[in-house]
Amino acid sequence: MNEEDLILHDALAHNSIIQGAILSKAKRKPFKHNDMGHLENELQKLRQKFRRVLIVVEGVYSMDGDICKLPELINLKEKYNAILMVDEAHSIGTIGKNGRGVTSYFGVDPKSVDILMGTLSKSLNSCGGYIAGSKDFITYLRYNSPGFIFSVGMTPANAAAALASLTLCETGDALFQKLTDNHTYFLEGLKKLGVNTGESYDTPVIPLITGNSEKALEFSEVLFRNGINAMPIVYPAVKENEARLRFFISAAHTKEELQITLETIKENLSILIDNRIASKL
Ligand SMILES: Cc1ncc(COP(=O)(O)O)c(C=O)c1O
Repeated sequence: MNEEDLILHDALAHNSIIQGAILSKAKRKPFKHNDMGHLENELQKLRQKFRRVLIVVEGVYSMDGDICKLPELINLKEKYNAILMVDEAHSIGTIGKNGRGVTSYFGVDPKSVDILMGTLSKSLNSCGGYIAGSKDFITYLRYNSPGFIFSVGMTPANAAAALASLTLCETGDALFQKLTDNHTYFLEGLKKLGVNTGESYDTPVIPLITGNSEKALEFSEVLFRNGINAMPIVYPAVKENEARLRFFISAAHTKEELQITLETIKENLSILIDNRIASKL
């Protein structure tokens, strides 16, 4: 991508996507979160004005725990002759068969997405990342990416940790059943408490939206004192009125731990009730 091109990205895209777009010098425009109508309007208006158009989305949104609308994105990118890139940082190892990510979740051929990119630093317990795409595209990156050519590669230990995690994913059907059971149980538990979990569904990323940064910090602190680690996400990572705690549910959590967490949240609900957010409870 360069000055002749356009990058259309989801409004909630991770900062790394925004920084990459800025570095490319392409024009950049966000579309409303997961709003395929808005994306199509932009494509209708703008496609002809640029040499290439790249659409960038996340498989699972890192702050909200909802999933991109992959089949519709593929239709749109084909209709408007655009390129589609999906950042699977939070979808690899969490959704789809054995954690194979968003293409498996929707049962679509991974080759229908031009660029599948992910990090090894979350479910895969390591550091570094990967890009999957056509042979030509990967060859192009291999010889033209300064960060790849002029920087040292992964350490063997990191490569081994990621490989071991992938092997575990491929053989660990029971792990993924447990993961699904755990996050479904926790999300339903939060919903029963009447707290605001935003758009999260079918993923282990579950926010508890407090509606202001102070409450998020205070609630996180109270949970931490009770042995529960849920980090506060405050402005500018999200809008101030969407400040939240973010829970990452894993297959290693026990039902008892999830129950204790739900009970602790229930006991401290009064912290959340203030002027601005009482209406949500
Ligand atoms: C959507 C998304 N993309 C990319 C990254 C960057 O991953 P890493 O920290 O492994 O470079 C993150 C990390 O938070 C992320 O959430």
